[in-house]
Amino acid sequence: MAADHLITPTPDFRFRRLRRTAALRDLVRQTHLRVEDLILPLFIEEDISEAVAISSMPGVYRYPEKDLADIVRKAAALGIRAIILFGVSHHKDDCGSDSWQEDGLMARMIRTAKTAAPDMVVISDNCFCEYTDHGHCGVIAGDDVDNDATLANLARQSVVAAQAGADMIAPSGMMDGMISAIRAGLDDAGFSHIPVMSYSTKFASAFYGPFRDAVDSTFKGTRESYQMDPGNAREALAESLQDEAEGADLLMVKPGTAYLDVIADIRAHSERPLAVYHVSGEYAMIKAGAAAGVIDEKAIVLETMTAFKRAGCDLIITYYAEDIARWLASER
Ligand code: PBG
Repeated sequence: MAADHLITPTPDFRFRRLRRTAALRDLVRQTHLRVEDLILPLFIEEDISEAVAISSMPGVYRYPEKDLADIVRKAAALGIRAIILFGVSHHKDDCGSDSWQEDGLMARMIRTAKTAAPDMVVISDNCFCEYTDHGHCGVIAGDDVDNDATLANLARQSVVAAQAGADMIAPSGMMDGMISAIRAGLDDAGFSHIPVMSYSTKFASAFYGPFRDAVDSTFKGTRESYQMDPGNAREALAESLQDEAEGADLLMVKPGTAYLDVIADIRAHSERPLAVYHVSGEYAMIKAGAAAGVIDEKAIVLETMTAFKRAGCDLIITYYAEDIARWLASER
């Protein structure tokens, strides 16, 4: 950032004057983390009776569908205002058709969550990888995902999610044109009031490893033909701006910690609210470091979240949402 608008301090200016007491530091802190910034991801599995612990992500579970209402009410009681739902399907096929059935897992999760906590912002993760038997984020043609065939399915799936009561549609599959297709589908079905949060800049990242355990993925391939190359900063901006032009109401960068430059760049070029996804591998690394006794978990988490906001994010999707809500409440 150019510093030419700043007053040049005198050579003997003392920065430490405003660092002297906790009250002074609080008074001049620029970046604040609020419970309203947080979105809690939830993994819901059909046809199981007990929660399944995810070994690589201590504290995170695949919950049975019957527990969803309780989990959502518990999150609401902590002050969490938004959740994003991931289904773990037992009805997988080659195109992920369960995800657009009116009584499929995705629709049922949304209805259950909205009924349990009507004021909760219920966000639907709209993708196919948890509903396809091959684990890719769309329809396969030859040895790759067929972009345009997937778009039609995404539009159907999004309309079903909106009919079930989703407050926001969040497509994560990185198909070209996905925002236009979903927007048109929603508008045609009478859902022009439902916003779309695009996973607009999503990298093909090694940080998603534990998520694949979390959703019990059988996926063995790579998503490099649709997710972004971690080396590409210009493309990262272009892809978010493309989604904005297609009508995305909110943009997203994923993962977070390794991509703060990308967050800052999108923030500088868009007026849309911006989310970051603090992904499974980022969570797992902090947990592992804390378990090894080499880092202070709470301090590291709060510093990381503050860095996301400082870089320019408004919203943070994180598996730490419940812990952060408790920590923030205890500091009041
Ligand atoms: C796929 C999807 C992924 C995540 C959310 N939705 C990852 C992937 O590409 O396999 C990752 C979330 C995480 O790692 O926490 N649509």
